[in-house]
Amino acid sequence: MGDFADELSDPIIIPTATIPSYPVSTVQGHAGKLVFGSLKEQGKQSKPLLVFQGRVHFYETHDVGRTLLPAYIASGLGAQVFLATNAAGGINRLFSAGDLMLIEDYLNVFLRFSPPRNGNFPVAANTPIEVIATPKNPFDPVLSGHILSAAAELKIPMQKGTYCWLSGPSYETPAEIEMLRRLGADAVGMSTVPEIITANQLGMKVAGISLVSNMAAGMTGEKLSHEEVNQTAGRVKERFTKLMREVIWRL
Ligand code: HPA
Repeated sequence: MGDFADELSDPIIIPTATIPSYPVSTVQGHAGKLVFGSLKEQGKQSKPLLVFQGRVHFYETHDVGRTLLPAYIASGLGAQVFLATNAAGGINRLFSAGDLMLIEDYLNVFLRFSPPRNGNFPVAANTPIEVIATPKNPFDPVLSGHILSAAAELKIPMQKGTYCWLSGPSYETPAEIEMLRRLGADAVGMSTVPEIITANQLGMKVAGISLVSNMAAGMTGEKLSHEEVNQTAGRVKERFTKLMREVIWRL
C-alpha cells in the first residue's frame, strides 16, 4: 500500500534510516521512507502530502511510543488530516480477501494503548483522563464520508467495520478469531490504533482504511502467510491508489 507514494509529483524522499531515533522497520514490504509531494492532474495540484512508506509496529520494539512518531511528525509539520491504512485479516464472514474496509470503530482492549498521563505527550495538562483515554468519535465523519463517496463514484465496493489490534507478530489462532468475532471485530491487525488515538489527541482529522489481505485464521482452511498478505496488497494496489487519489481531491 506504500506504493501510493509513487503517485506524488516532484517527490522529496527521506529514508527513515537518516532520521535520528526513527525506529527501523524490519518487515518485508514496509519500505521506511517519508515522501513529500502533491498530486498533479490536468493542471490541478492537491494540498501538500506526506506519505509514510512503511510503519513501525509495536512488535518490532515493544515500545508503543515508537509507533507514534509518524503522528507526531505529521502534526508537527502542520498536517490537518491523518489517513491511516493497514492490512488486516477479515473476520466478518461477509468479507473476502481483497476487500477494502472503512474503519468505523476499533477495539483497543487486549493490548490497550492509552497515552501516558504525565511525560511528554503533548495534550493540555488539564485534559480530563476520560477524554485522553477515549476519544468521543475518533473518526472524522466528513473525511470518512469522502472515502465512501469516492469509492461509490469509482464503483469500488467498500466494507465498513470495527478493527481490532493485537500485538502480533504471530497471526491469531482460530479460537482467538472466534473470540474476536463474538466481541464485534470485523477485521484484525497489528497496528494503527495507537496512531489513530494519538493523531486525534494532536487535533488532526482522522480516517482509516483496512485492506482485507486475507481471511483470518481458521476461516478458509488455508494457512496464513505474509506472502498472501503481500500478494493481495499487490492485486488491490491499483484500486487502492485510485481511491486514495479521489479522496485527496475531495479534501
Ligand atoms: N491477523 C493479524 N494481522 C494481519 C492479518 C491477520 O490475519 N492479516 C494482515 N495483518
